[in-house]
Amino acid sequence: MKVFVAGGAGYIGSHTVYELIRAGHEVVVYDNLSTGRANAVHPSARFYEGDILDKTRIAEVLEVERATGPVEVAMHFAAKLIVSESVAQPLAYYHNNVEGVRQMLAALVESGVNNMVFSSTAAVYGEPPKGECFEDDYTLPINPYGETKLASERMIKWVSEAHGLNFCIFRYFNVAGADATLEIGLDKDQLTWLVPLIMQTALGQRDKLQIFGDDYPTPDGTCIRDYVHVTDLAKAHVQGAEYLAQEKNSLLLNLGSGKGYSVNEVVNAALELFPFAYEYAPRRPGDPAKLIANIQQAREQLGWQPYLGLKEILQSDYSYRKSLIIPSLLHSRESQDL
Ligand code: UFG
Repeated sequence: MKVFVAGGAGYIGSHTVYELIRAGHEVVVYDNLSTGRANAVHPSARFYEGDILDKTRIAEVLEVERATGPVEVAMHFAAKLIVSESVAQPLAYYHNNVEGVRQMLAALVESGVNNMVFSSTAAVYGEPPKGECFEDDYTLPINPYGETKLASERMIKWVSEAHGLNFCIFRYFNVAGADATLEIGLDKDQLTWLVPLIMQTALGQRDKLQIFGDDYPTPDGTCIRDYVHVTDLAKAHVQGAEYLAQEKNSLLLNLGSGKGYSVNEVVNAALELFPFAYEYAPRRPGDPAKLIANIQQAREQLGWQPYLGLKEILQSDYSYRKSLIIPSLLHSRESQDL
């Protein structure tokens, strides 16, 4: 089937494009390359440069593509996603993330594309009291990033009711890791996430990792999160697209590993693979103590199952980042054993 991927040059988008192509689908990538990279677009995908805020351009691409067969499923990854940045620039986040979804939905409705896969986030849950998140839990985001994703989810649901759109909304937990080929991975500069910061420290780009807080109400005092490999996550999108095309139904699902690791546990797992320095620092504002996905619904409704664990996440991320510093490692599958 033909799949339109807005944001297909970005981190999760590019991994999804790779998995779609591996599953035999035809892929059309649409990206403004503001944070994505042209060379992260799979060579077998057709690439169109364009902005998510440009409904006319999206509709034009869908029309051009119609000549070789209509787009059956559209995916939306084209969002800003840094929590601290969203707090500092809420208007930019509402503009890009909410208005961008509105423009894309308008183009899809106009062009008769009835299936949409949407990237949402665990940030819609805010600070859940139990730590384990279920899809029907109360949503109360604590930052503009989470708010914009929740507003987008709701917009998609209303458009679904009015125009017969089927959707697959995925709420991601902590995504990390890189494709096994090491051709793509996460290489953003403006990083706040634990796994890439561990890698930067291990590769000498930072002096020390700071562990934010050791006095949380968790067994070792550090925050617990649910880390899911980007390749497992990307495969869920392929299954989501296939579900939409076959079932003509909608889904809202958590995507995580279903397992929680404390910051200390992640650091210790990484230290078994490579050395780096760390220190304890005060809590980072806004960090909930514990966030774990309940993934029963994804298992039952989509038949999805994550296969790659924390070790694979850390190894692949490390190898990818190292390959950026030592380009000869690129394409070398052997390099994955570090
Ligand atoms: N952490 C450190 N040191 C660092 C960076 C992070 O100790 O240098 C800790 C954080 O305090 C937190 C844990 O590592 O306890 C994970 O932090 P990340 O920044 O990697 O991820 P978050 O859980 O804060 O955020 C993730 C996604 C967001 C999403 C959120 C949903 O990255 O996009 O989950 O809750 F909004």
